[in-house]
This record gives sequence, C-alpha cells and structure tokens, in this order.
Amino acid sequence: MPILGPFAENWENVEKFQARPDDLLICTYPKSGTTWICEIVDQILAVNNAEGCKNAAIFERVPFLEYAVPNMISGTAALDQRASPRIIKTHLPVELLPKSFWDNKVKIIYVARNAKDVAVSYYHFYQMAIVHPEPGTWDEFLDSYIEGKVCFGPWSTHVKGWWQMAKKWDVLYLFYEDMLEDLTREIRKVVKFMGKDLSKELVEKIASLTSFKAMKENKNSNYTTVPSSVMDHSISPFMRKGVCGDWKNQFSVAQNEKFDKYYQREMADCDLSFRS
Ligand code: A3P
Repeated sequence: MPILGPFAENWENVEKFQARPDDLLICTYPKSGTTWICEIVDQILAVNNAEGCKNAAIFERVPFLEYAVPNMISGTAALDQRASPRIIKTHLPVELLPKSFWDNKVKIIYVARNAKDVAVSYYHFYQMAIVHPEPGTWDEFLDSYIEGKVCFGPWSTHVKGWWQMAKKWDVLYLFYEDMLEDLTREIRKVVKFMGKDLSKELVEKIASLTSFKAMKENKNSNYTTVPSSVMDHSISPFMRKGVCGDWKNQFSVAQNEKFDKYYQREMADCDLSFRS
C-alpha cells in the first residue's frame, strides 16, 4: 500500500500499538468525512460539554494512529499518553489494522463517501497538505487514483474490505451522503452505537455544532492552527466545499466515461451502493 515515507518508517510502532477495550476507532478512506465524524463522536463523548470541544484541535482530541512526521509527536505516542476512553482515527485498510484492535474487540465506526467526490477532494488535499508528493495535473492524479497509486491505496478495496468486515464485526458503516442528507438521523445512529442516551435537544445541538459552516469557522476543526508549511489553506482550504456531486465540476466527459468503466469492473463483486 502506498503511504508517506515517514508513516512507513514508523510502521513498527503502529503494528505493535496496544488498543484498549474501551477505545472507539474511526476508520475512513481519506477525504470521506473523517474530520466530520471525529468531531461528532468527540461531541457525543463530551456530552453536556459540547462547547469544551472547542478548546483543542480535532487532531489532538482524536489522534491519527499512523501519523508520523519528523519533529512532531507521532499518532502512536500521542495515543499512548491519552487517558481512556480514547477516540482513534485511522485510514488503514482492514487488512492492515493492528492485531490488538481485534484482540480487544474495539468498536469501529466507518464512513464511506462516493468515489468521484473523494477523488476531487483528494486532489485538492494533495496540493494543500504539503507532505504529499506533487499530484501532477488533475488528469494525471485521476489515473493514479484509478490505479490505486495514492496514499492508502485504492478506494475500492478500502470500502469493500471494511464493508465485508461490517457484516461480521461491531462496525457501524455510515455514508457521507447520508450525513449530508439528514445529520441528526445519522448522529442518532452513532449515539446508539456508542451506547449513549442523548436528548433530542443535545443531538440537535451537536448537529448544529458539526454543520459544515460551524466546522469551517471553528479553528479547532478546520485545521487552520496547523503551520502553513504543513497545510497551505491559501492553495485550498481543508474545509473546502462539503457537498455531494462536486465531481461534476471537475470530471470531463471522457474522464467520467473512463472512471465509470473502472468503477463497474471494481465494484461488480460487491453489494455496496453509493449516491454521487
Ligand atoms: P471537500 O474537499 O469535498 O469539501 P476528511 O476529513 O476525511 O479529510 O474529509 C474532508 C472532506 O470532508 C472535505 O470535502 C470537507 O469539506 C468535508 N467535510 C468536513 N466537515 C464537513 C461537514 N461538517 N459537513 C460536510 N462536509 C464536511
């Protein structure tokens, strides 16, 4: 699986990472609404103190398991220091999840987003998150994405692998497009999955604090506290558009036809369906 060099160098620490039974793992393919679901889960955990979630950046509240960049604390080290119950973010495909998550029967929330919007969002992210290699033109990037030659590998095997796992493990499998359609409904699913009981008012409050607008304006969810040498929001803001169907503004007719052929081939063996 292609991954950033420093992440690969830290792999040993990821592999031997010790999960705890009361951890909650958030798993996504990049650009699928990771930050959104992290914010929601953290707000649910901090019930009655939703405003408190504004006191630290989302990447501190929900450390990124495989994160490793020189001169910064790694995800594994940050997690080791964190008190339980921990919320952990990962982009790992199901095959690479460290063994102790399975041994400790950790609950998992997966969020999937349609392949075309992910491609567009990822292209912009590759440019603004400086640790990534140069993505080339959009056409070149789309080819790399189709070939699975982007960080964390192919979108298709990621969503399919976790979908199969959700049939036999404690995985809540959510869709970005469903969250856009009815956020309170999806938050209620998360609340139930976490074994919590929240009032209608609190669920609505969390929905309002995790709307695109609120998160875009909140420096602790929008990644603007990260140095511009790491993320350059003048190239593309992290909270970019937050919609479904933006791919229509980016794909040419030829690219779309090529992508649809690839998609039908890749997804033919799977009963997953996406709205795009
Ligand atoms: P776009 O680039 O299409 O705008 P991730 O957190 O996995 O990196 O995903 C980032 C994508 O999720 C970005 O998509 C971002 O705008 C979108 N996003 C983040 N928070 C959101 C929210 N509250 N509502 C809708 N989309 C959100």
